[in-house]
Amino acid sequence: MQIAIDGPASAGKSTVAKLVAKRLNYIYCDTGAMYRAVTYAALKQGIALDNDKVLAEMLNSFELKFVPADPEQLVIVNGEDVTKKIRLPEVTNQVSLVSAQPSVRKEMTHRQQDIAAAGAIVMDGRDIGTTVLPQAEVKIFLVASVHERAVRRYKENVSKGIETSMATLEDEIKTRDYKDSHREISPLTQASDAILLDTTSLNITEVVEKILEFIEEYEKN
Ligand code: CDP
Ligand code: CDP
Repeated sequence: MQIAIDGPASAGKSTVAKLVAKRLNYIYCDTGAMYRAVTYAALKQGIALDNDKVLAEMLNSFELKFVPADPEQLVIVNGEDVTKKIRLPEVTNQVSLVSAQPSVRKEMTHRQQDIAAAGAIVMDGRDIGTTVLPQAEVKIFLVASVHERAVRRYKENVSKGIETSMATLEDEIKTRDYKDSHREISPLTQASDAILLDTTSLNITEVVEKILEFIEEYEKN
């Protein structure tokens, strides 16, 4: 069984996808981390982030591994632990440019489909239900208001000792959503057979329980 969870920035996708995977004992794949890892590597190598040809060359020797660990799985790129680095603002604010490049999308889509071929999976991202796993049995499109998503990011930043104003966070979220929804290849969009779940007033547990209910309903029918 494949569960696809898509939606805009900071809707809670990775948090709930991870918990759903744990409850079901499924593999979890964070595809956003993959685009972030490519962006990090390109920045490190000084590659222009919109240079599709050079990015394609870089991807020829781009080794990306998810290593199980507690409390979160590690993201390893060419032997380097980039788990924390790929969440830095420098990456977050430029990832949409890299993820819009054709060769990057093609390569990441292949790798994600290979990961999914290994067994039952929960995968989250922007184009999982539409492009990566169009045959997924259960597709969820998670949304929440921009304000609520900025509040969630704000609290997360505070817990990490990062100071960012609410206005900046709202602007960043809106800008990234716009770029991700308006790119040419596999833009962020709700699959026609996805269930829309508005989480603005739901906590993490409530969202997880709702998704598990949708899965149970699918299994009954
Ligand atoms: O967690 P957050 O919402 O900040 O984003 P993410 O899921 O880590 O994704 C980071 C970026 O990767 C997104 O803004 C997209 O540009 C890109 N992405 C994508 O294009 N396709 C996916 N399936 C997943 C992420
Ligand atoms: O993966 P995505 O960018 O969609 O979101 P995330 O990184 O999973 O969640 C962003 C933040 O919202 C995290 O700090 C979560 O703990 C929090 N969250 C929440 O407060 N309520 C929810 N219903 C879902 C997530």
